[in-house]
Parts: sequence; structure tokens; C-alpha cells
Amino acid sequence: MKILIVDDEEISRRILLLKMENMGTCVAVNSAKEALAELEKAKAEKQPFDVITLDVSMPVMNGQELLEHIRKKEVQDKIPKNDRIKILMITARMNVGTINACIKRGCNGYLTKPVSQAQLIQSLSQMGFEPATPEKNGEQGMSHSTGVAEIIKRFYSGKIILPVFPSIVKEVEELLADKDPSVDDLAKIVEKDLVISGKLITIANSSLYKGLENVSSLNEALVRLGLKHTLGICSALATKNLFDSKNEALKTEMDKLWVHSFAVATLARRLAEEKGIDNLETIFLMGLVHDIGKMLLMKAYVDMNPDVCVSDENLQLTIHEIHTTFGGVLLKKMHFSQQIIKVAEIHHWDQFEENTEKELLVVSLADSMASEMGFSFFSKKDENNTPEFEEGDLALETGNEFKLNRDKIMDKLSGLSALKVLGLDPEKVFSIIEQIYPMIRETCRTF
Ligand SMILES: [Fe+2]
Ligand SMILES: [Fe+2]
Repeated sequence: MKILIVDDEEISRRILLLKMENMGTCVAVNSAKEALAELEKAKAEKQPFDVITLDVSMPVMNGQELLEHIRKKEVQDKIPKNDRIKILMITARMNVGTINACIKRGCNGYLTKPVSQAQLIQSLSQMGFEPATPEKNGEQGMSHSTGVAEIIKRFYSGKIILPVFPSIVKEVEELLADKDPSVDDLAKIVEKDLVISGKLITIANSSLYKGLENVSSLNEALVRLGLKHTLGICSALATKNLFDSKNEALKTEMDKLWVHSFAVATLARRLAEEKGIDNLETIFLMGLVHDIGKMLLMKAYVDMNPDVCVSDENLQLTIHEIHTTFGGVLLKKMHFSQQIIKVAEIHHWDQFEENTEKELLVVSLADSMASEMGFSFFSKKDENNTPEFEEGDLALETGNEFKLNRDKIMDKLSGLSALKVLGLDPEKVFSIIEQIYPMIRETCRTF
């Protein structure tokens, strides 16, 4: 593989060179002008580049302009789509607007600085390359990034069995999109899945929905839960199933991830309701699956190394680095809608434009708030925005009442781009968090 690294900052160039030198032959240049000269030279020598990593912000001709220039040239030269050079954009800021503009201009992927080796391997594999895996760590056995790189390879070569998302959720969704769905129609779909229909009865009798008398049939349960709520509950039951494991240590981590996902889903739905957005159940599903990449990466890692300590900080950080891209690819393979895939891909970005989809904004906002509510793997970030772990950062695990810190939450809210674009009042968001917090703690275990 022949790689061209284009970046005006020397340090960034050196980092990229270091991380990719064992993946192929690398040439690094510091401007668009030099990049064009290298491309011409390679063309003349009939040894074209396979990949370009392109810094978005550079003086004179920036990354976006160079991308556009290269794509126009390829069209002029009548190069077939599949033979065009793969371009990976690298940005310093997580700006959704910039990325959308790059996608429009024909980039094949995007990463934010600091770029890790796992992210590069993931992106290159997604583009159809087989980058060499980093060296094994001799006596210590496999390092975490080597292990994760191995999973990425297996994933793209179809050697990982993908979880199946029950079709029942889609069927219920389609039924509810109909003009006049009836409880009987809904029952016909749900009763095909014995586990889900059994659970629906239990949930209808739980403290959350309990009426005067216990319900004992599916129809009664559906009437009590209501059509729309049933869709949300079916989604939650179906997703919860994916977070199960026979491995005890993994189960503990999966459980944390489930609680986090459930919290994000519940809060996102409530925030969307506040904003008058109507597809509340889709937003709930988005929250449930936004971190699904982590679920599969953890499972695959433990399958490969049954004795690994899955809560290990370095392993979790490596997984965190690629969970968004990986989650997006996974949801695509599971035939989720483009809108849901996008949420998995960019929920951690922190610069949103005015025209960003509201659904993405509420999930991103809820995700940022979940950690302030104690429903997270990561409780704080260091000055480089890298997540750090804290002992017992999951409120449900500590057993003590997690105290919401009003000042901290208000402070965090004031810096969130998603909140600004949504036009939500921080005071209002805080009161929603206060209201919903005990409900999430109580109900997340019902599923
Ligand atoms: Fe995430
Ligand atoms: Fe998350």
C-alpha cells in the first residue's frame, strides 16, 4: 500500500508516519502544492498512491479544496469510481459541518486528531485494505491495540458472527407508521416472539405501569402499555438481549454499557419531547444503540482472549477510540436507517451547525449528560479531551445514592454546542435531568 500524508504541522506528520510506516510505503508532505507534485510524479512513474491522509486546515489550499481538486481531476481523467484514490480526512476539531462538506466532496473517511493506530487500521480496513497489524509485544503477549486490530480484520473478512437484531422491532415500527394501527395487529406481531411477549406482561405489571389489577394476557399488557410505548419497550428488550454474556466479567461491563445506553435513550426521548420533535420512539432506539460498537468490540475481544480483564483501562480506551466508526459499520450491516447509523458515528463530535438533525443533537446531548448522572464508563476527561476512568464511576454499582452536581452540570451544559443549536434552556434541561434520574435508576433493571 502506498500512502501520501499531507499535513502542514510537522508533529502531526511525524505521528502519522510513525503509526503507518509498517502498513505501507509512506510519503509525507506539508502542503497541497507538494501533494499535487507527488501525485503527478507517482502517476508518471505508474506507481499511484492508494491512500491520502489529508489535513483539513492548511494554509493556501486547504484540505477540502485539495480533495475537491483531486476528485475533479479524476472525473476529467475518466477514472472509474472503484479505482479512485482513497482519501481520509484528518481534522483537529470535531466539526460536523466540515465533515459533511468533505463527504459531499467525496472523501472516504474522516478522523480527528490525535489519531490512534487502531483508528487508522479501522478506517483503512473499512476502505478495503488489509493494513499490517502492529507488532506483538513479545513476552507480554498481545497488546490491546494488536488484539483490537485483529478483531477489525476478522470483522471485515466476515469471520465475526454479527448479532441479530430481532425483526420484531422493525415490524412494530412499520405497523405504528400505519394510519390506524390496532392492538390486535400489534399482538399478532409480538406474540411470535415468546421471550419479548412474556417480558411485556412482566413490564406491564411492574411498578412503572402497574394498574389496579395484574394483567395476565398479552392483549391486556399491550392495552396497558399503549401502542407507542410498546415499540420503545420492544426495542429496549431486543437491545438488552445483545448485551448479555455468559462470561461474568464481560457481563458486568455489558451491564454498565446497557445502563448507560438506556439512560441516554430515556433522556434523549424526554429532551426530544420537550423540543416538540415527533419521532420519539426512533430517538429512543437511537439512544439504545448509539454505543453498540463497544458491545461488539468487547464481546469479540473476550471471545478471542477469554482470560482478559475486560475492564482494563487501556483496552477500554482502545475500544473507545474506534467504537463510533465500528458501530456505524455494524448498524449498516444490521440494516438500520442512515439516520441511526449517523448517530452511532458522530455522537461524540462537539461542533454542530444550525442545520444538524435534531435527532442527532438530542442523543449527543443526552450522551454528554449521562456521565454527569453517573451512567457512564467514563466520568471525566483530561485536558486533551481523553476520557479517564474513575473508580466506581457507575452510580448503580457503588450502591450509594449518586448526587447530581448542579453547578457541574450547568457548567458542562453551558459549553455544549448541541444544547445551543437545539435552543434549549440549561435550567430546563437540569430540571428534566432531576426528574428523570430516579426513574432511570429504577427502571433500567426491569428489562
Ligand atoms: Fe460513545
Ligand atoms: Fe455513549
